[in-house]
Amino acid sequence: MSASPRGERLLVALDVDTPERALTIAEQVRGIAGGLKIGSRLFTAAGPDLVRRLVDSGFRVFLDLKFHDIPNTVAQAVDAAVRTGAWMINVHASGGSAMMQAAARAAADAAAASGSPAPLVIAVTVLTSMDEQTLQQTGVARPLMDHVLALAKMAQSAGMDGVVASPQETAVIRESCGADFAIVTPGIRGASAGQEKNDQSRTMGPAEAVRAGATYIVVGRPIIAAPDPKAAAQAIVEELTSP
Ligand code: C5P
Repeated sequence: MSASPRGERLLVALDVDTPERALTIAEQVRGIAGGLKIGSRLFTAAGPDLVRRLVDSGFRVFLDLKFHDIPNTVAQAVDAAVRTGAWMINVHASGGSAMMQAAARAAADAAAASGSPAPLVIAVTVLTSMDEQTLQQTGVARPLMDHVLALAKMAQSAGMDGVVASPQETAVIRESCGADFAIVTPGIRGASAGQEKNDQSRTMGPAEAVRAGATYIVVGRPIIAAPDPKAAAQAIVEELTSP
């Protein structure tokens, strides 16, 4: 799918429960969005065949399965993910440096073995559903932002291509990790992404998030629950394109 240069930044979260619904939305945003995100719900229901089908029909797919396990198991899961043709995959940074290094190595090896380009391998820092209190319950005493930044730096040192981070954390990570580090930002609301917040609390508009340093923005419900998903995606890309 060839979206406009600004449209390349928009990843549509296919948070639906059937492959049919996913394929319908995919076609509605073809040529507008830069990629599709498949998470654990749709993947568990529809499996790798749907990923291959979307990849074969020209879509970039971000397989958002957030692997977090012992390094050997994560490496094997990454190998299987690469073989679906996914363009971007992710792991949890809190799995540690050795786990992320194993993931990066497995992605490069699997891509070389299958003759396909290596996917972007990115790391989730702290889930946006967590606040400082819930983080402390897991034994992390330092402030949330410090923890996010430490995990982002560890991810970069371990060979990750980028991180998933909330809009509020993007600028700090961009400043610390440099221009080439991919930052994928969900929690996009306001402006062309609509005023309905759903369960997202710390949000930013599409253009604002890109200005703060996001490489890619992930947008789900403002597009997939809109009466006209194509028009909703177009409005967001127009906002990204306008000066
Ligand atoms: O519908 P909405 O735009 O809120 O969807 C955002 C997508 O990004 C969902 O798939 C959600 O699971 C995902 N996500 C998130 N916050 C994170 C990581 C992923 O909202 N920290």
